[in-house]
Amino acid sequence: MVQVLGSVLIVSLIVPEALGITCPGLGDFNSDGAFVDFPEPTCPGDPNLELSYTMYSTSGGNDQGIVFDRNSVPSNFNPSWKTLFVVHGWNSNADAGWMADIKNRLLANFDANCVVVGWGGPGGSETIQYGESASTTRTVGAESAEVMMNLITNGGGDAGLMHCTGHSLGAHVCGHFGRWAAARGMKPDRCTGMDPAGPLFAPNSNRSVGLYTDCAQFVDIINTDWTSGSTPHPDEPALVLGHQNYFPNDGHDQPGCTLDSCSHSIAHDYFVESVGNDCFVARESCSATNDLPGSCSPCGHDCGQMGYGASRNTADGIYRLETVADAPYCIG
Ligand SMILES: *[C@@H]1O[C@H](CO)[C@@H](O)[C@H](O)[C@H]1NC(C)=O
Repeated sequence: MVQVLGSVLIVSLIVPEALGITCPGLGDFNSDGAFVDFPEPTCPGDPNLELSYTMYSTSGGNDQGIVFDRNSVPSNFNPSWKTLFVVHGWNSNADAGWMADIKNRLLANFDANCVVVGWGGPGGSETIQYGESASTTRTVGAESAEVMMNLITNGGGDAGLMHCTGHSLGAHVCGHFGRWAAARGMKPDRCTGMDPAGPLFAPNSNRSVGLYTDCAQFVDIINTDWTSGSTPHPDEPALVLGHQNYFPNDGHDQPGCTLDSCSHSIAHDYFVESVGNDCFVARESCSATNDLPGSCSPCGHDCGQMGYGASRNTADGIYRLETVADAPYCIG
């Protein structure tokens, strides 16, 4: 018995089976290669994930929204308008007030569709197991891409009108969303990372673990707390994950915040205020994220704009601006 057990152990040591999980409708998510530090993710079909997609649109149905999935096109979806997917991060869920705020401001100001993405179950973002949530950004991103791809294939939508904005781990959900769709010929127009989560992602040298420039035609990043997470090491520069990378107040210690958690969360509040209000105009462009404002110089009329109004029509780069402690935070 001991010998049998021994040989089983030796065999399993010699031929290590990659840790991972096969998710129905998506395929394998292995914990190897770039994902060696990531535990097994939760599959979209697992009820503990509490994955949900709710469509709101200027064309109506917005009291409750319309819940849908990868097999349905909600009746309020207008394929000729832009669609904004909004994704929360760790220890949050579909009821987060800032997601409703983004949706309400979007529909009040534009003809648009808005998909609120929830993954706040105990097998999703509402767990103390940060690593599991971080890994589950892969499966939520992939499933969200399938949902978007169905809106294109069966709803008449257009990848060029698709935009995903996510906070913290939600930024990486958007990253995997965009990369999954891009690999299937439907690269979305835009992904916005609202202070993308650093732990597990930033120290990894392979950028395909999370949000990066390959995830959409245009990737813009709002950095509000980079000194506490979005850098591999405290002495190293913040990562440049997007085409346009905004560093309000040098990207850390936001006005009115004393805690890192406040600076981290205010990224989504800046985004809320930016919807329909083009007032987060950058003042300087910079060359080194660990030398702010030292490496910056005025960019005049060529400055990018942080938040919803960011546009690929301004140059790629690192931008610096200032905000104030009270909403709408921007100073014009
Ligand atoms: C990065 O990770 C991805 C996913 O594991 C892998 O396909 C790719 O080959 C890796 N790239 C490099 C340069 O190691």
